[in-house]
Amino acid sequence: MLKRIWLLFFCLFLPLSAQQITLQSPSGILKLNFILDQGRPYYQVYRFNEILIDSSRLGFVLKKQPPLDANFKITDLTTDSVDQTWEQVWGEAAKIRNHYNQLIVRLQEKSGLQRRLYIVFRVYDDGIGFRYQLPDQKNLKQFEIMDERTEFNFTHDYSAWWIKAYQWNRYEYLYQNSPLSQIDTVHTPFTMEGNDGLAISIHEASLTDFASMTLARTGRYKLEADLVPWSDGVKVKAQTPMISPWRTIQIAETPGDLITSYLILNLNEPNKLKDVSWIKPGKYVGIWWEMHIGKSTWSSGPKHGATTENTKKYIDFAAKYGFDGVLVEGWNTGWDGDWIKNGEKFNFTTPYPDFDIKQLTAYARKKGVQLIGHHETGGSVLNYEAQMEDAFRFYQKLGIHIVKTGYVAHGREIKRIDENGQVQYEMHHGQFMVRHYRKVVETAAKYHIMLDVHEPIKDTGIRRTYPNMMTREGARGQEFNAWSADGGNPPEHTVILPFTRLLAGPMDFTPGIFDIMLSEYRPNNRVNTTLAKQLALYVIIFSPLQMAADLPENYEAHRDAFQFIIDVPVDWEETRVLHARIGDYVTIVRKDRHSDDWYLGSITDEHGRILKAPLYFLDQNRKYMAEIYRDGDHADWQSAPLDYFIEKKIVDANTVLTLRLAPGGGTAIRFYPIEK
Ligand code: NOJ
Ligand code: CA
Repeated sequence: MLKRIWLLFFCLFLPLSAQQITLQSPSGILKLNFILDQGRPYYQVYRFNEILIDSSRLGFVLKKQPPLDANFKITDLTTDSVDQTWEQVWGEAAKIRNHYNQLIVRLQEKSGLQRRLYIVFRVYDDGIGFRYQLPDQKNLKQFEIMDERTEFNFTHDYSAWWIKAYQWNRYEYLYQNSPLSQIDTVHTPFTMEGNDGLAISIHEASLTDFASMTLARTGRYKLEADLVPWSDGVKVKAQTPMISPWRTIQIAETPGDLITSYLILNLNEPNKLKDVSWIKPGKYVGIWWEMHIGKSTWSSGPKHGATTENTKKYIDFAAKYGFDGVLVEGWNTGWDGDWIKNGEKFNFTTPYPDFDIKQLTAYARKKGVQLIGHHETGGSVLNYEAQMEDAFRFYQKLGIHIVKTGYVAHGREIKRIDENGQVQYEMHHGQFMVRHYRKVVETAAKYHIMLDVHEPIKDTGIRRTYPNMMTREGARGQEFNAWSADGGNPPEHTVILPFTRLLAGPMDFTPGIFDIMLSEYRPNNRVNTTLAKQLALYVIIFSPLQMAADLPENYEAHRDAFQFIIDVPVDWEETRVLHARIGDYVTIVRKDRHSDDWYLGSITDEHGRILKAPLYFLDQNRKYMAEIYRDGDHADWQSAPLDYFIEKKIVDANTVLTLRLAPGGGTAIRFYPIEK
């Protein structure tokens, strides 16, 4: 058994001074070589004997110490092989198979400080994860990481999809597509595609107490981990024993297979919350879009959105159509004036006088819905942390179990007081904020609160460990269509997200805008979509909390199309991808976790498409009703976005549906069995 997993040998092609250990994935698709060459550690990755990643360095540069990246000997090697299936509390799939071979390489410096560094490799059929461990040791206690040496030395000039790192507006930019050899320093998930369709995505898993990783290009096709620094230039402040996040490389036959790769979740710790009975996925509406389009305001005054009366209207609407929650933003004091600059003024337990929170929570409860709380911090995390326990306790007492948080601040604007009492400013993605976001998740769990985080740290799969960490933003969401000066998200944006940002985890994109032209409130903006595409997004973009973002009256105006949003679930038994071309189109089918229904979402960029969808995923012995919400025959996102058509067809597992997607359009389908 052990022999199948790894082989230790002195390879003919390597200099005598080099040792190589090979580890294969369970079915031998991927192969990882660990190489120690003249004391320096490297790794390589092969797929079916083709080299994907050539010798790439490993290790760290530390402050006021020699680098921890050379002069090593191997003191010990252990291997393991795991094949287990675990169940998600909620998710895009109920059961997840965790099947890998593992190698732990224990290294020690041959001379000098004789420090020890361990590297854990896991090789799956769908990718590779590795992480560093610095065990408790005499010559390494407190230390500061100035650089991570990890390289990704690719061998081809792939087509890459990326967002430049270290920008003013965090992750909220449109993706760029260029050859790998032309990328800037980028955020992860960073996705690439080969000419033959092979898809690769680099990200990280279990980012717990570390800086987040961006990728800098240091050679034509070579990337290096670039950790987001603290304000003093240090990347990570740590002490032994230390364990780094996993560096993940998902490798798939096709881009669609990236979507159903659960490698990142597999590399996170299992659920730490004993009681999960209070964690419930659901759908919500809210006093939100009306602020973004300028119909009402977050701040107090004549246009204040979060009034008792307006909230009741939304509660009634939610109750009428079976929504679980009503989000209310602008309910608490602190929004008046420039709230982005004055985040310290936010008070998280004081409602505006025209928002009777006690009356409203009681009213909502009576109607079978609940309010969703909101904590906009404006990036003032010190102010937030000082109030956090009280704020969550306040909500818990009122029966509020979901809180949306927000961190609108830009570049390096997060205020911190250092050890000397001096004010410093940090970025959203450095270790200071990683710690903060984690503290919020843990504190929320204590008060039985589920989270939806905007302007978040990127998702690295901690929802597995803390399933109250439901969803987050971390990309350009729907809101950009309401006000962005650049014309909003182009039709292509939503056919890039599934292969990039969404590989990290759920997104609170807030789909479902029916008043596409926004002519009453924002005549110079619009949503670059057809109405049918808005419906399809509920299947394409997985989120356990899914918003119906538009105003109640716009849903009433298209009551027939609204039925899809009412029906579509948010928690899935299984997910499959029928069509996938990054930046062009994608079709996803998901099975409801709580019924026998299946749902299909198919979306395209600015080009119209005819796609054949074989319904092989349906039960072989059953007939189903397909309720099809599609683009009308004249639909076009530019000229006829509201042209949609709803039809019913009886189908079975042998049916091949022809999906006709208009330019900028989509199709959404509900399948339900009509026989046992
Ligand atoms: C940005 C968030 O993404 C958005 O959803 C929210 O409405 C505003 N901040 C105000 O908190
Ligand atoms: Ca945002």
